[in-house]
Amino acid sequence: MKITIVGAGYVGLVSSACFAELGNHVVCVERDGARVAQLHEGIVPIHEPGLPELIARNLAAGRLAFTTDLAQGVRHAQLLFIAVGTPMAQDGSADLSQVLEVARAVGRHLSRFLVVANKSTVPVGTAQQVHSAIAHELAARRLARVPAFAVASNPEFLKEGAAVEDFMRPDRVVIGVPPGSAGTRAESLLRRAYAPFNRNHERMVVMDVKSAELTKYAANTLLATKISFMNDMAALADALGADIEQVRRGIGSDRRIGYDFIYAGLGYGGSCFPKDVAAICHTARAAGERLRVVEAVQAVNAGQPARFAERVLRHFGGSLEGRTIALWGLTFKPGTDDVREAPSRAIVRALVAAGAQVQAHDPLVHSLDQLMPDEPAAQRVRLEPHVRFCADPLAAARGADALVIATEWKIYRSPDLPALRRALRAPVVFDGRNLFDPQDMARAGFIYQGVGRGQER
Ligand code: UDX
Repeated sequence: MKITIVGAGYVGLVSSACFAELGNHVVCVERDGARVAQLHEGIVPIHEPGLPELIARNLAAGRLAFTTDLAQGVRHAQLLFIAVGTPMAQDGSADLSQVLEVARAVGRHLSRFLVVANKSTVPVGTAQQVHSAIAHELAARRLARVPAFAVASNPEFLKEGAAVEDFMRPDRVVIGVPPGSAGTRAESLLRRAYAPFNRNHERMVVMDVKSAELTKYAANTLLATKISFMNDMAALADALGADIEQVRRGIGSDRRIGYDFIYAGLGYGGSCFPKDVAAICHTARAAGERLRVVEAVQAVNAGQPARFAERVLRHFGGSLEGRTIALWGLTFKPGTDDVREAPSRAIVRALVAAGAQVQAHDPLVHSLDQLMPDEPAAQRVRLEPHVRFCADPLAAARGADALVIATEWKIYRSPDLPALRRALRAPVVFDGRNLFDPQDMARAGFIYQGVGRGQER
């Protein structure tokens, strides 16, 4: 099939490479010319296992091309996916300007039947707006024969760090198609595109467009809810002297609950959960509803880093003046270089505000510019003298009054505990991801605090 994907960001690149790998001819349109040039040289701007190899192989096979020319992309495609950014606007709503810009360009260049499927996470009702924007541009061209088109929704559920795998082995493929004959054609084209995943087991879930748009938010919001619920329980476990990790195992064994996404810690970060949870709350208010549970999910999550930093401060009697704190892990989760909404950022700010010098280590983040690219330069300048980046975890621990763990990278999971003890000035560990057993750590001579391990008091 001839497929065009607009946007060479995270979702766009993974989808482009994977659809090409399945044997389709894929054009990936990206407005950033420098990025397109890099991609042609095989330089992949995001960290995603398996992606560089897929891109290189399919470029070489001639099944994948990158361009800045959207008109070319529209002419090429039977099926065009929109995978551009939908950043969060000031008020928590999703900023749709890039999506609608693509829609208008489609309308300007469309010459035969096309299915436009939206992969960007967009509020319910966006497909309708995309449809209107295309129709408006088409009408302005005053064509003798106006080409038909359909706007479908095809939300993605890719996890960073496992996106290629998730794309190639989806739990389900959700598509939302409009009513009528154009919708029927859209459904059959999308079914064809995803046919390789349905050989042994039907994974297509076909529904109306609005339901598909809402499905994406409902999935992410429910996962975020599990996390905040566990963090709420962790606070109670601390107050009562119970251990959230034991509780986790106890409830996860119930298949209705499951073991996934019930880890207490510093809360969720990343480019999806915080943005999507805010956006669905905004959508609900705009529709005259309030998602009371989800608003609480948001509030619990927002408070998690501060709550944890508070615990560090309490240990040192309320001030970190003259203290050095080691910090392991800066990305929002392991296996990615993504620092968007990473809890570590709030932790760094809180530690420095309390007077600490921070010695940080992360396998992929090595500077404040990398950690806080989107924050005002003044903020970084203020933090600069107080944050030092170290080449390895033990170097970060050297001479520190305590160690704080913010991301559960594999290399932090089995440290040389005697060496860690020797490196630290005092054997104090605040573990924001519950990597260790408190008793093991006590035996190894550490003062150890996790999240919800019954140690608040
Ligand atoms: C998520 C969804 O999983 C994916 O389906 C969607 O398309 C995009 O958003 P991603 O942002 O890559 O993917 O991260 P994910 O692996 O889901 O983790 C989200 C955050 O939750 C991380 O910060 C992680 O540390 C945190 N988390 C996860 C917990 O705190 N506890 C858990 O039990 C699970």
